[in-house]
This record gives sequence, structure tokens and C-alpha cells, in this order.
Amino acid sequence: VRELEERVAERVGVRHVAAVSSCTTGLMLVLRAFAPAGPVVLPSFTFSASGHAVVWAGLRPAFADCSLSTFQLDPADVAGRLGGAGAVMATHVFGAPCPVEELERLARRSGLPLFFDAAHALGATRGGRPIGGFGDAEVFSLSPTKSVVAGEGGLVATNRADIAEAVWLGRDYGNPGDYDSRFAGLNGRMSEMNAALALESLALLPEHLERRTELAERYRKGLAELSGLQVQAVDVGDESTWKDFTVAVDETRFGVSRDVLAAALHADGIDTRRYFWPPVHRQGAYENETRVNLPVTDAVASRVLSLPLFGGLSGDDVDQVVEVVLGVHEHAEEVARAVA
Ligand SMILES: Cc1ncc(COP(=O)(O)O)c(C=O)c1O
Repeated sequence: VRELEERVAERVGVRHVAAVSSCTTGLMLVLRAFAPAGPVVLPSFTFSASGHAVVWAGLRPAFADCSLSTFQLDPADVAGRLGGAGAVMATHVFGAPCPVEELERLARRSGLPLFFDAAHALGATRGGRPIGGFGDAEVFSLSPTKSVVAGEGGLVATNRADIAEAVWLGRDYGNPGDYDSRFAGLNGRMSEMNAALALESLALLPEHLERRTELAERYRKGLAELSGLQVQAVDVGDESTWKDFTVAVDETRFGVSRDVLAAALHADGIDTRRYFWPPVHRQGAYENETRVNLPVTDAVASRVLSLPLFGGLSGDDVDQVVEVVLGVHEHAEEVARAVA
């Protein structure tokens, strides 16, 4: 575990890394360490665990809207929701960096801590700087489907010694070693077995990222001319991990809805995911939050579809998926009738 913490700290260029049992646990412990005095502003277009960590830390989520092109938390919308807030927590959606500088400016101006749910983003860079060193802390996931895997696991990366200490303590019941626990912590440790797996996986990261980027580029080229289908935009100069390759389907221009496209791909043996649908504020666990006004999030979440992307996929496989998508667009009316 210690070796993994050191290697990751070196790779992402931060002073401290604390390995934990999952990204969710890491987020819970970071939030608990800060004990923000008010609601946590976060995206609703993210995985449910971002919101759950806030709730488990005894805090209220204050959901903010996202961008139509990048799907990332929208700083302009965040700015309008900072009154009374206690912290800001953004997600690097699908492994592409979110607008960290604008969020850092906003958080600094309001005197609020800023964290990142970096579950998808170990290996991503923003303007040449690795994700992991932005804000007060960033939390990676090592669960299956991520860029580095450990079976299960999470990593808290931070330049702040106080946060790292609180996470090291918090992952071990709050016990510094004398069994006089300083606060009600968790069993949030990473096992040696999981860390050993993660070390092997970390060594493969460069090759893994290169492969995913090649496949994503192939998808991008294949789908470039297609009307009504927009690939997630990544800011110029940024490198995504391409944890997911996600497109937004505009039914009017593409010819069929996201759901019809998913059904047509499924009929051809191609598995897809509707990440992130429903958005967190529309999930049953958040029924008190459904009245929050997030028009862009609602639009994006109803249109997104993640196409297959994994290391074992071949270039030909990508071409085949592209061909089916092009075919669905070309024969939209027939496809819609057949799927209905
Ligand atoms: C954005 C995001 N945050 C948090 C998590 C939770 O990660 P973990 O399963 O390591 O707790 C995930 C898992 O996929 C995720 O996608």
C-alpha cells in the first residue's frame, strides 16, 4: 500500500497520496475531514457515488448544471449557487478534465474548499499538468473499468498534509495507533492484495492510455461527419483517459432517439451504457432535490450514450460499431419502426 501511494504521488506530482478501499470512501473521508459549514455544490451529471459521499458526510448536495458540449460542471452555474455553500466538488467526467482553473478561482474568491471526484481520471492531464494536484484534494477510483484497477480501491491525492493525515487516520477507524480514536472513522483501508494488483496495473497505464486514445480517435474520425451526433468535447491541450467514449444524440437531426439507437446497437450485439442517466438529482435517493432547475443536465442526460471502449477492442470492432451507427442514421425511419 505504501509503495502504491509513493508511486502514484510521483506519477501525478503531489506530496501525499492516501490509498483507501474505494473512491466513495475517499470522498466521504475528505468531506468528513473538512466538515464544510454548508451544502456542497456538485454536478448532477456524474455517478451517484459523488452525491452519496456528500450525504454520508452528513451534508446537503447543492446540484449545479453542466455544459452541453463537454458535459462538465458549468462554472457560470456554480457561481450562482455559492451563497451559503460550504464546499465545491467537481467530477472529471469520463476522464476528461473539467474546467479546474475557473472552479479554483470561484472557490478561492468564496473562501471554499474545492475537491475533485477524479474517479475516471488517473492518467489525464490538464494543460500538461496531471490530474491529481488540483484543488484541495482529488480522489481516484481503482474499481473495474477504470484506467488503473485494483479489484476495488481508491486514492486520495493532495498537497495538503492535514487532509492526507485525516484520511490516513479516518481509513483506520480514526485510530492513530493508541486506540483512542480521534473521530468516528471507518474501515476504509486498501488491502495489500488490492495494492499489489494496482501496482501491476499502474505499470501498464501508459500503454493502456495510448490504446484508448487511438480507439477514441478512430471513433471520432468515423463519426465526424454524422449529423445529430456529438462526441464529448475535450478542451484543447487536455488529455482524457477516455474512461468512456460518450456521444449525445440529437433526435431531430440524427433521426432516432438515444434509446432507439441503443436498442438498434443491442440488436446487433453491441453493448452500450446510458451514462449518466438518470442524472443524480432525478434518482430515487434524491427525491427531495428533483425541483432543482438543471435544464442542461436534463437535456444531456436524456441524450448520452457510451459506446464500447476497452483495451481488447480492435480497430475493426470500432469500425463495425461506426458502420452500424451510420446505418441507423441512414435508415432512421425503418429502424424506429423496427425497434418500436
Ligand atoms: C464519477 C464516479 N465517482 C465515484 C465512483 C465510485 O468509485 P468506487 O466504486 O471506487 O467507490 C465512480 C464509480 O464508477 C464514478 O464513476
